[in-house]
Formats: sequence, structure tokens, C-alpha cells
Amino acid sequence: MKVPFVDLKRLQAPLRPQLEAAFSRMLDHGVYVLGHEVKTFEASLSHYLGASDTAGVSCGTDALIAALLALGLPAGGEMLMTPLSFVASASSVLRAGLRPVFVDLPDTGFHPDVSGFERAWTSKTVGVLAVHLFGEPVPMTDIAALCARRGGVLVEDCAQAIGARDADGRSVGLAGAAGTLSFFPAKNLGALGDGGAVFSHDAAFVEHVRRIRQHGRRARDHYDELGGNFRLDALQAAMLGVLLPALDDWNAKRAVNARAYLCAFEGLANAEQLRLPVDVPGHAWNQFSIQTPHRARLIEELRAADIGHAVYYTRALHQQGALAAAAPPECLPNAERCCAEVLALPVYPGLTEAERDRVVEVVTGALSC
Ligand SMILES: Cc1ncc(COP(=O)(O)O)c(C=O)c1O
Repeated sequence: MKVPFVDLKRLQAPLRPQLEAAFSRMLDHGVYVLGHEVKTFEASLSHYLGASDTAGVSCGTDALIAALLALGLPAGGEMLMTPLSFVASASSVLRAGLRPVFVDLPDTGFHPDVSGFERAWTSKTVGVLAVHLFGEPVPMTDIAALCARRGGVLVEDCAQAIGARDADGRSVGLAGAAGTLSFFPAKNLGALGDGGAVFSHDAAFVEHVRRIRQHGRRARDHYDELGGNFRLDALQAAMLGVLLPALDDWNAKRAVNARAYLCAFEGLANAEQLRLPVDVPGHAWNQFSIQTPHRARLIEELRAADIGHAVYYTRALHQQGALAAAAPPECLPNAERCCAEVLALPVYPGLTEAERDRVVEVVTGALSC
């Protein structure tokens, strides 16, 4: 049995009539850039997130750039961040005129902890960029308190974590100045193309992001600051408006899949064989990422069995050539070990029980020998 890593068609099929109706509405009104489709989606998303306001933007990368530009941080200021993320988390920091400084992961887990950020804080530090990697909510209380104490900003990259919540049930992304989202199709809420958003409890800040997303436009023919073309397509906003109501149900299905794996693999879990992700409350399970020193063998078996899998990420950010100029290569052993061992198994909401059982069977077989 072939098991896809992700099959978006399965998720969208039941919503096809609504998606087609939204598309035909677009053709009827002909407003393709910003306009009421974007406004309506922004309002629904703010309501879902519990944010004061949300600005739709072109993608998750531009969401980070726009948010960082709108914060007006001093050029060359250092943002402390994880070395384990998609390249855009760090390249956006550079493109906003700042410098990423990578803080190694602790011995276990996928996120740097507050003590790592505290030790790395210098007079050049302007804040922390927290990444809720794989949909796992980073505990923010202590990190937010550190930023407040040291006079830094806190930005949360929630590209992989829409729907993830903290222990009090509050959406990730609201602990500091800004949260950012990506609607890349394979995210928990994926557009039929690219899209992103910046949200905050500070409505004036979000208005500033709206100016930045239109080249810094204050009024017609008045550009007081540099921004970019970071607009969300009206078409994507219309599609996302259809998909958003399904998000909680999809995330619940992700959690069912993740818990079934955790239960099935419990007996194999030990540092020499397999490390499992932690089922923290509010996890959005964008990925179910295990770590094993036997990854090469496991990948061979998964390939032979036609089971989709992926490595996020084969290289840590401080090992990426594109970022090397800003971040001199240093050794971050835990992040590097993680990149050598991490492996994501299919967890998306369209996975059937039979497919999930097949994944369990093949992984268990591969790691039991
Ligand atoms: C953690 C993280 N940040 C930022 C991004 C960038 O989002 P986009 O691809 O929409 O530009 C991604 C996308 O994969 C991501 O996973």
C-alpha cells in the first residue's frame, strides 16, 4: 500500500463546491488585489486567533520581513533564534536589515529554551524570534518575560503552527509584538498557492504592516518608508475563507494520528533507538518528527514500502551558505545531531487508519532489528 506524505486533494475534495463558488464569485466581482475578500478573511482570521487585527500578506517569508520592518529595529541589531527551521526564518531577519544569532537546542526537544536565549543576549541583541517548529507551541511566558526585562522585541514565526495553543488555550503568536503565518499549501491551513499573515494584539502595529505591504504607502502617492509588494491575493483570501472553518477538525485529526504513533512506538523509545516528539497541550502537529540514529536504514525501508516521509531539516541554519555571511559558522552540536537524526512521518488529516497502521508496521519492523 502506497502511503502519501501529504495529499491535499483528499482534504479539499469535500469542500470543492464551496471553493468553486468562491472562485466564481471572484470572476463576478473582478477585484483581484486586496479589497473586500482580503478584508473579510482578515477579520475571520483575527476572530479565530483572538488577535486584535491581522494583515494578509503574500507568504510566510514576507510576513516575517513586513513584521520586522514595521518594528523599526536598529540596522544590524541581533535577533536570537533557533538554528533548526526553514531557511526563511533567518533569511527574513537578514533581509529586514538585522542579523540572526543562532542559539543551540537543549539536549532534548526541538526548541532553544529561555536559558539559552538568556546566555546569548548581548548589548547588540534587539530581541528573540521564536519558531513554533512542527506545530509544537514553544512555552512563551519566560521568553516574553526575558524580552520585556531586557527591552527586546518578541516575534513568533507561527508558519507551522496555526491552531497551536499555549497552556491557557491562547493562540501562539500573541505573546509578543507579532505573530506570522504561512499559508503554503502543505501547512495546517494551506491556500491554493502562496499566502501569509501578520497578526498582533496591537492594531496600530498591524496597520503599519498594511502600509509596509504596499511599498510603505501612507496615502495615494505618499511613500514615507520602504516596504515591498507583500499583498495577499484576493483569490487566495477567498479560498482560505472557505478552508478556515475546517482547520480545527483537521488539527484534531492530526492529533489523533500523532497520538496513535506515540502509543505504537512507546516501546521502541530510548535514546539509542528512537526519540519521540512530546505531546504538549495545544500541539498543532504540522509534522510528526521522530529522531533516530538509524535514519538511513529507516528511510531505505520506508522507500521500499512506498511510504512518504521527509527530513526537516538536513542542515541547520548556521550551515546554510546563504546565511553564512551574517552568521559565522559555529558548532551547534545539538542542532547538528538533530539534523542528522530527524525524520517526519505522514501525519496530515487525510491519512487513513489503514495507512497509519502500515507506517507503524514498517517503522516498527525497521527499528526492532
Ligand atoms: C517556520 C517557517 N517559517 C517561514 C516559512 C516561510 O513561509 P512561505 O513559504 O509561505 O514563505 C516557512 C515555510 O515553510 C516555515 O516553515
